[in-house]
Amino acid sequence: MALKDFDLVLFGGSGDLAMRKLLPAMYARDVANDLPPTARIICVGRQDCCQEDFLKTVETQSKPHIKSPAAAVWARFTARIVYVSLNATDAATYAPLVEALRKDDGLTRVYYLATPPAIFSQICDNLKDNGLVTASSRVVLEKPLGRDLVSAKQINAEVGKVFEESQIYRIDHYLGKETVQNLLALRFGNILFEPLWRREWISDVQITIAEKLGVGNRMGYYDTSGALRDMLQNHLLQLLCIVAMEPPTSIAPDAVRDAKLQVLRSLKRFTPTTLAQNIVRGQYRAGHVDGKPVPSYRDEPDAPEHSRTETFVAMKAEIDTWRWAGVPFYLRTGKRMADSLAEIVVRFKQIPHSIFNQPTSSFMNNSLVIRLQPDEGLRMNLMAKTPGEGMRLKPAELELDFRETFKTPRMEAYERLLLDVLRGQLTLFMRGDELEAAWEWVEPILNNWEQDESVPIPYAAGTWGPAAASALIGRDGLQWREEALPED
Ligand code: BG6
Repeated sequence: MALKDFDLVLFGGSGDLAMRKLLPAMYARDVANDLPPTARIICVGRQDCCQEDFLKTVETQSKPHIKSPAAAVWARFTARIVYVSLNATDAATYAPLVEALRKDDGLTRVYYLATPPAIFSQICDNLKDNGLVTASSRVVLEKPLGRDLVSAKQINAEVGKVFEESQIYRIDHYLGKETVQNLLALRFGNILFEPLWRREWISDVQITIAEKLGVGNRMGYYDTSGALRDMLQNHLLQLLCIVAMEPPTSIAPDAVRDAKLQVLRSLKRFTPTTLAQNIVRGQYRAGHVDGKPVPSYRDEPDAPEHSRTETFVAMKAEIDTWRWAGVPFYLRTGKRMADSLAEIVVRFKQIPHSIFNQPTSSFMNNSLVIRLQPDEGLRMNLMAKTPGEGMRLKPAELELDFRETFKTPRMEAYERLLLDVLRGQLTLFMRGDELEAAWEWVEPILNNWEQDESVPIPYAAGTWGPAAASALIGRDGLQWREEALPED
């Protein structure tokens, strides 16, 4: 379906996200000939700079994030960009934006707020006061969507005064990743898994997002956030929802979002006691990543000397429903880990009885590994007979490598999500009640950590986090996937 003509307005248009992700994503769609010839990207920034200088900034800061840019497409792409300078929190300065926007009510208008959430509502009010919100306008809210339940509710309420819920696109870029949608395809496009996808057959689920990267130059934001807010409240919980939700009746936005909301509302609440038993938080110290020395979190530029911000979280979560009661969902994320990967491991139960001359305990549980990055794929671990005489069974793998199997060009998460916004497809965006339900669940943890005097457990950079994370899962007689892998 061809895209309708649009004006895409990027608030935070000269910021890091715009330069590194949003403009390169739009460029990629331009290369693919998805953008209507007259579609425009209006970059809004505070800096009083002229169009020519802004395009130079795009050249130096955004172009390096594009793989092999072609001169002709680059020229076409940059001709779409218009720079508008204004103070986003001051309605009186919006005249240049009013001027720049085309006055066609049928045109799709997207306001992408890649700004701190504290000014979301102010920007929405200012757009309204300047008569810029039309029926075909949409607003995209970039994370962090608040820092607790109160602020999330406030954002929802205030943005909701200006835009209808059907016009609001709350981004979680993990939902734009190819494999997340493949998980939907796997669960609901095949008959095989759904009958087994429940407590009777599944022993446990692990969801890990590990990064080798440290905090780098984002300390100002990160130290007030931490891994729980930055990764777990959003990306990990969204993945958990897709794994655990009941089959929606269709792929329609509210069908999927209702199903996800039910999962969020069924998560078992932590009490101060269960929280201490089931959550481990850590902070990285100096270590080695890829053989190179890296500093401690507290020695990163601008880090507070005695920061208590966690750069690692591991937890055991449970879902109180008939389908999932008693099945542990282990969630884990961290910076400066041993590897960069994002994966979901669904482990099935052990066979009930061995008919072979080897004990049941020698049978590895079947497991399904859904790999989001770095390589996208699915792996099913099975037991198979070793060739030759006799009947010895050993673990073997069935593998589906998406890049190998499907040679079609890839699409980055932001490309897909931007296209969905421009097409008006809300399925991969969070609804306001989902956002609040996620904050509601993490709130007791945040409160507890704030009151608690203890500090996160140190772990050496380049490792899999504090030993306490292994102990957490070890208490249930289990191991994290990398710990359970046979040595090469
Ligand atoms: C962002 C977090 O939402 O996700 C970052 O703010 C994190 O801290 C990033 O590095 C990870 O995303 P990805 O797609 O690189 O795994």
